[in-house]
Formats: sequence, structure tokens, C-alpha cells
Amino acid sequence: MKPKVYVTRRIPETGLRILGEYCEVVYRDEFAPPTRDELLDAIENVDAIYCTLSEVIDKEVINRAGRLRVIGTMSVGVDHIDVEHATRKGIYIVYTPGVLTETVADHAWALLLAAARRIAEADSYVRRGDWRIAWAPTMMLGYDVYGKTLGIIGLGRIGQAVARRAKGFDMKIFYYDIVRRRDLEEELGIEYAPLEKLLMDSDYVSIHVPLTPETRKLIGDRELKLMKRTAILVNTSRGPVIDQKALVKALKEGWIAGAGLDVFEKEPIDPDDPLLKLENVVLTPHIGSASHETRNKMAELTAVGIIKVLKGEKPENLLNPEAANIRPLSEVKVL
Ligand code: GLV
Repeated sequence: MKPKVYVTRRIPETGLRILGEYCEVVYRDEFAPPTRDELLDAIENVDAIYCTLSEVIDKEVINRAGRLRVIGTMSVGVDHIDVEHATRKGIYIVYTPGVLTETVADHAWALLLAAARRIAEADSYVRRGDWRIAWAPTMMLGYDVYGKTLGIIGLGRIGQAVARRAKGFDMKIFYYDIVRRRDLEEELGIEYAPLEKLLMDSDYVSIHVPLTPETRKLIGDRELKLMKRTAILVNTSRGPVIDQKALVKALKEGWIAGAGLDVFEKEPIDPDDPLLKLENVVLTPHIGSASHETRNKMAELTAVGIIKVLKGEKPENLLNPEAANIRPLSEVKVL
């Protein structure tokens, strides 16, 4: 009998094709994620779940799925999964590190440049028909990027990719991380700085940390007040890393000059969220990795990872090898 995999929502064709070669695929072909009840109902008798970051895979979900052997998430972030609980139950988790690094770094840069040069605001200005004077010495002034200082919070793969791009803008680059990466400092031309110094001295600050209890609200009132009044904050990691209320205050009261945000405390953002009223912020709907190429790669990596676990093989994108202490891969083998 083929193993059964539940795919929670519409994914790129390539992922489905790979899964379909080995598994019985229960495909929920919908743009939106399933409701909690739908999810709980669908997973009772499946060997694998293919999910995205929108589905909360907590204890209740994991316990409900009595046959579950592997969770594949089409994301690099895993804060929506109770990893500890899954691991304790010998359930393997595969995810998508590596393949989205450059795409997310591109997006962080797109937001940085857009916020610095007021691209979204200027675009609306032209479309609204407000552009009535051809050129004016004081129209829509933004801030230079070339030669300025960039502060990178979190020097994982994406943080490093952002740093590499900054070299082309001849920037001074600070980074902060819980582990100092001396091995990369020379190669990337970056300098370690404690968080406070990075915030005080940077013209641009870009966040690239995972969401953990330690990084939740890492940037709040106190941190925003440390930043330059001309600084721009970019976040493509997870919304709750920033205290959004504090950020709104900072943007309104001019503690910082602007922000570029791809992620929010609540997604989708509420239509009456005060951020939507502010002109000095550029907003995108959590699309950091959303290129054709990368989403195909993510779908493929997730599907291949699931299949490997079901074959009793170790996938390259395995998050929790410790699950083997409870259930070795050889015992998972259903293919
Ligand atoms: C996107 O946010 C991801 O975690 O892949």
C-alpha cells in the first residue's frame, strides 16, 4: 500500500508530481490554508503532512495524526510547528533551508531601497494624479544607500546573502548575532557589534532571525529609540520579532525615518491596522521567497524530503535528526 500524504493547500505542480510518484496524495487544491477543524479531520490517517507556514502544527495536531511519520513544511521558518513534541514522538520534520536564501535577500534589498527612495509612495503619487510640477528640487527626498552603514541582525544564510549584496553599495556592515561568526568577518567584510551599537550606528537595519522565545519583540520601544532618526528598518523574518505597536509610534513620531516590512504580528494584516495609514513604510504580504524559481525549488525540496523519510533514507533538509532516537529511519520505512 502506498503511504498517504496530506497536502494542505495548492502548491507548485513539481511538488505534487514528485509526491504522486510514490504516495497516495490527498490534495486540498485551495489557495487559502485549511481551517483548524479541516486540518484536524484530514490528518487522522496520514503518514505525512505537506504543509506551509500558515498551518499551526501543534501538540493537538501531532497527537491526532496517529500514523504520522514526517511533516514537510514548505518554509525555512518552523515556528508554526511544535518541533520538540514532534521529535519526542519520533516524527521527522523536513523544511526548505538554502533554496530561498538569495530570493529573500533580494526582497530585503527591494524593501530597503523602496523605503529609502520612497518608491511605493512615489508610485501612488504619480498614479493618483498628484504629479503636477515636472521637477522640483525638494520633491520626494529620500536617503542615499551607497556608502552608508548597514546593520544586519541575525547572520544566518539570509543575513549573509544580504551582506554580500551590501558590498556592491560600498557599505560599512555591522552584524549582531547570538554567536559571533569570526570565520565570516573577513570574507564578508563585516564587523560584529553588540545590538545596541548596531542600532545606534546603522543607517539601515535588516532583521534575519528566526522567531523564538528569545527573539520575540527583540525590537521594541527601547531599541527603536536607540536608532538614528534618519534610519530605516527592514523586516523579512517574522513579524513578532518587532513590537509592532512600538514601531507604529516610532514611524509616526519620527524616531526613525521609515520601514520596509514583509512580515507582521498578524497576517494578513487587519484592514484598520495603523501601519496602513503611514506613508513612510513599504508593505508587502509575506512574499520574501515568492519567485517562480524559488517556490518551485521549495516545493521540490519539501516533497523529496518527505519521500526520503518514507523510504527510510536521511534527507539533506532534515530539521530534527534526534527523532531517530525514538524511531530510527529504518523503522519509518513504508516505501
Ligand atoms: C518564509 O517566511 C519561510 O519561512 O519560508
